[in-house]
Amino acid sequence: MKNVVISGSGLYRPPYVITNAELVQAFNAYADLQNEKNAPRIAAGELPAMVHSSVEFIEKASGIKQRYVLDKAGVLDPTRMRPKFAPRPDEALSLMAEIAVDAAKQALAAAGKTGADIDGVLCAAANMQRAYPAMACEIQAALGAGGYGFDMNVACSSATFAIEQAANAVKSGSAKCVLVVNPEITSAHLEWRDRDCHFIFGDVCTAVVVEAEDTATSSDRWRILGTRLVTQYSNNIRNNAGFLNRCEDTDPDARDKTFMQEGRKVFKEVVPMAAAHIERHLHDLGFEPTQVRRFWLHQANLGMNQLIVKRLVGQEVGDDLAPIILSDYANTASAGSIIAFHEHHADLKAGDLGVICSFGAGYSIGSVVVRRV
Ligand code: COA
Repeated sequence: MKNVVISGSGLYRPPYVITNAELVQAFNAYADLQNEKNAPRIAAGELPAMVHSSVEFIEKASGIKQRYVLDKAGVLDPTRMRPKFAPRPDEALSLMAEIAVDAAKQALAAAGKTGADIDGVLCAAANMQRAYPAMACEIQAALGAGGYGFDMNVACSSATFAIEQAANAVKSGSAKCVLVVNPEITSAHLEWRDRDCHFIFGDVCTAVVVEAEDTATSSDRWRILGTRLVTQYSNNIRNNAGFLNRCEDTDPDARDKTFMQEGRKVFKEVVPMAAAHIERHLHDLGFEPTQVRRFWLHQANLGMNQLIVKRLVGQEVGDDLAPIILSDYANTASAGSIIAFHEHHADLKAGDLGVICSFGAGYSIGSVVVRRV
């Protein structure tokens, strides 16, 4: 079996930032408008009044301080509360493909490759812009890549699950050089009108190049020592938007057609699952968690990441062992652990061991154990 490496990564960061203060101001203005509109029903006890959000709560409960978005004005307009994107003609590059191509070109440049070197494109994200043709086929064409492309969605674990598919394709010889790209336009699936979750997500796109070690020319190579995926069905993170909606005659703007979660339950159930998953994966490869130089974890909640690492290494640790990027980016679904990897790997030395691990809806957990070559 061939050795497989991650030989380059890329990150597209959208042009706009929404701070918690801006977000809370817009949410509170929306809540006031709703309360005004519904005053008679609230007074009659038919509806609860909407309660204001707070910056202090958001920062304490999640660690998130700001998020990047593709459209700011629509999100912050209290009469709209969602991004506004102009529809594009079928002949134009679609929005998801546009940000994917940006991140992909950076990853290709880092790996010393061009689109022509790629013979597999996996577009792995929590949401796809359309049913078909696959986003990956459009991205493949825009990059001038050959081979094949397909989309896959395992929510927040999409990137690690795709890295396993890419690594296996290279190992088996069915592809030589695979691009994994994660365009996450989470601002479009987030319910910005729900106080419990309006602060959670941000937009971004990440990409990595996965290829055989003997074809890699990049000086920045990470040998994939092993990948491990697991899923366990849960309704605690759910979104019912789908192609059957119009046949069910349900409201496309109903609360269940955007991101919903039981945050407390997710926190309690996923922390032990993720910690045990990483520990077992490392153990089966002959390593202890204390030998790991860096954990690039999924970025949903600061406390969650701190607890997972504490369970693994037995003590409180700082950012150096498990860097936190969610304070700047918020939860970017499958891209979070890859942003952490992209921004925080340059200081590691040859031989250093790292773990990329995602966890999220499904539940799904994916780990990729790597060693710097
Ligand atoms: N502003 C102010 N107060 C708020 C608030 C807001 N925006 N949202 C909720 N609150 C209040 C609640 O009303 C509640 O008040 P109460 O105690 O008087 O009832 C209190 O804060 C605690 O709410 P809760 O929802 O239990 O908060 P939490 O501590 O569980 O934090 C999350 C919420 C979502 C940040 C946290 O549960 C989390 O991150 N979980 C993991 C989620 C995850 O990983 N999801 C994966 C997604 S891909």
